[in-house]
Amino acid sequence: MKSYLMENGVKVFRYGEPIETGIIQGKMTATELNADLEIEFKKNNSSINLLLSPEDIVYGLGANLGGINKRGRTYESYCTDDPSHTEDKTKLYGAHNFFIISGDVSRGYFIDYPSMIKYDVGFKKTDILNIEITDENFTIYIIDGKSPSEVTSKFLTIIGRAYIPPKWGFGYFQSRWGYKDKGEILDIYNSFKENDIPIDGIYLDLDYMENFKDFSISDERFSDFKEFVTDLKKEGLYLVPIIDAGVKVEPGYDVYEEGIKGDHFCKDINGDPYVAAVWPGKVHFPDFLKDETQHWFGSKYKLLTDAGIEGVWNDMNEPAIFYDTKALDEAIEYAIESKGKNLDIHSFFSLKDKFTNLANKDAYYKSFYHLLGDKTLSNDEVHNLYGFYMTKSANLGLTKLLENKRFLLISRASSIGMHRFGGMWTGDNSSWWSHLELNIKMMPSLNMCGFFYTGADTGGFGGNCSGELLTRWLQFSVFTPLLRNHSAIGCRNQEPFSFDEQVTKNSKNIIKVRYRLLPYIYSEYMKAVSQYELMFKPLAFEYGESLAKETEDQLLFGNELMLTPVHSANQKGRYVFLPEKMAEITLGSESLEVEIKSDKIHYMDYGLENIKFYLRKNSILPLVRPSQNVKNMDTSMMDVVAYVDEKAHYTLLDDDGITYDFEKGEKFVTNISIEWKKDDYEINVSNNNSSVKELNFKVIDSRGNMTVKKINL
Ligand code: GLC
Repeated sequence: MKSYLMENGVKVFRYGEPIETGIIQGKMTATELNADLEIEFKKNNSSINLLLSPEDIVYGLGANLGGINKRGRTYESYCTDDPSHTEDKTKLYGAHNFFIISGDVSRGYFIDYPSMIKYDVGFKKTDILNIEITDENFTIYIIDGKSPSEVTSKFLTIIGRAYIPPKWGFGYFQSRWGYKDKGEILDIYNSFKENDIPIDGIYLDLDYMENFKDFSISDERFSDFKEFVTDLKKEGLYLVPIIDAGVKVEPGYDVYEEGIKGDHFCKDINGDPYVAAVWPGKVHFPDFLKDETQHWFGSKYKLLTDAGIEGVWNDMNEPAIFYDTKALDEAIEYAIESKGKNLDIHSFFSLKDKFTNLANKDAYYKSFYHLLGDKTLSNDEVHNLYGFYMTKSANLGLTKLLENKRFLLISRASSIGMHRFGGMWTGDNSSWWSHLELNIKMMPSLNMCGFFYTGADTGGFGGNCSGELLTRWLQFSVFTPLLRNHSAIGCRNQEPFSFDEQVTKNSKNIIKVRYRLLPYIYSEYMKAVSQYELMFKPLAFEYGESLAKETEDQLLFGNELMLTPVHSANQKGRYVFLPEKMAEITLGSESLEVEIKSDKIHYMDYGLENIKFYLRKNSILPLVRPSQNVKNMDTSMMDVVAYVDEKAHYTLLDDDGITYDFEKGEKFVTNISIEWKKDDYEINVSNNNSSVKELNFKVIDSRGNMTVKKINL
């Protein structure tokens, strides 16, 4: 074991000869440290036991099932394409190996290891957190802090700043697997306009391609693509096409030919390009772990950027495998042999399983290889890095192609480290109430692991969504930086106007509220990523009460708000726990109501027509008028709602939203201070944002007295 110390006091313990994953960015100095860890090394398995005291909370593990407190469950880290996120599952699409044990003190652990890790968080034994790593070579980072916030900040610092999308990426996006052609995309967009529902973009799923070939555009369904993209962009509507990991095997197809010629594909045991099957049938997987391949594949996005595209989503990059030819042939052979036989229960089920278990078999990932530096490694050994490096490849390509312009980029598979290159969505969830609840609980864990530009498929991807579920989901998703309503082919249409009039009206109102909140959401995003703080926080990160530690369906959002979403059916409201006096805000597209609430627990009426949340004491929230899209957002006149007992301050950060010039200090800053002096509020505003001209203040005090003031700048 070798030990190191990082600049911010993080301790690093390196066992054996770990693979260089590229996840961590911070600098290390060699030192003599005692790891203080009980590790049992066996062949291909290292087992670590950490003690949990009864009051300890375990936070983290990013995209996974379970609650905010991860205790009482098992988890696995192995990026997996499994669309059925039922309660018994242990892994999803991400591998996010950071967690915190928080009790009297807080200690964070990050395991830098790119293959399967299993966690038993007090499941078999209540007081033991057991970690099984399938190797003897790995690195553990131990991060001590006074509080879980301090630990997370230190961790976020060593993994590096999160990806920053363009401002239009914070708008509302519609998506559906099944929008078949230009005509349908236009119809969808026009329906948004006719219904006066704001929208910033439409995702293009795989039907825009020619036979599911990456970097191809169907001439039949999407002719004159450039013109189409450009015309829509003029109106402020962005198209975001999908790119899948597998490249179709087809002689004559440029991406395939270049990949073969440049030796860019993963190899099988014989050194030939590995053949798997995904959407187009047979595919090869680019070996994204190779620098040259990252640059080559990244350069292919030119086909899209040349057409005016400024955003993409990378999919199926666990990588997902429907079948490989060997396993399919075996299944077919087995079926032929079974023909005409009297199949008893065992032989019938083994026949059935041959086909139903064809997808994503463990054996596939052991049978193809990457080149990392001068080492040949099976995919299994570096499995969790595939989505990360595919996204890095896209990021390198788009950065070069779009120069100083920011782009939207999300991925389905991820590991920590990828957060520097793109955002992520949480994969193929379902139109279930429990998945709305999962979405709520997952947001802080995702932030802890570096993912800020993230959100779930609002309304649920699989299954049929009810109007009520869509509405409730939107009420939460208006706060997630990535706000995308996406659904699967064959399911009920999920656009807000595909439901009855009332649902359409409510969804419209709620989406408009997103646009009212957008300057605040953007400002909080920029602060969180640059100051290495969470945007979505568990209540216990700031409040000491035991109830705060147990409350999992209320979240602090930014430094000012507390969210209390309704996540079950047929409710007119919900019980809310207020750790301190707060102002209850009811926000509609045109309306704003503020009421002081002091109860520790009270029942909050929460209808379907608008948004409710809480503004914390001595806090300020800026709002704008709703707009059709980010391009048309008008910040000249803002409402400022504040709950001030003594004094409050808010810094509203803004920038051009398009370029990286903010990194050179080109930011627009509006500083707002409100202080209670004798018998009135003194309001001070300093502003270098020339577009902000008029501020309409509504300031409420603890007794519920409201002061209204207008300030022209
Ligand atoms: C995957 C994606 C989903 C997409 C579908 C078709 O299941 O997760 O979002 O719609 O593939 O491309």
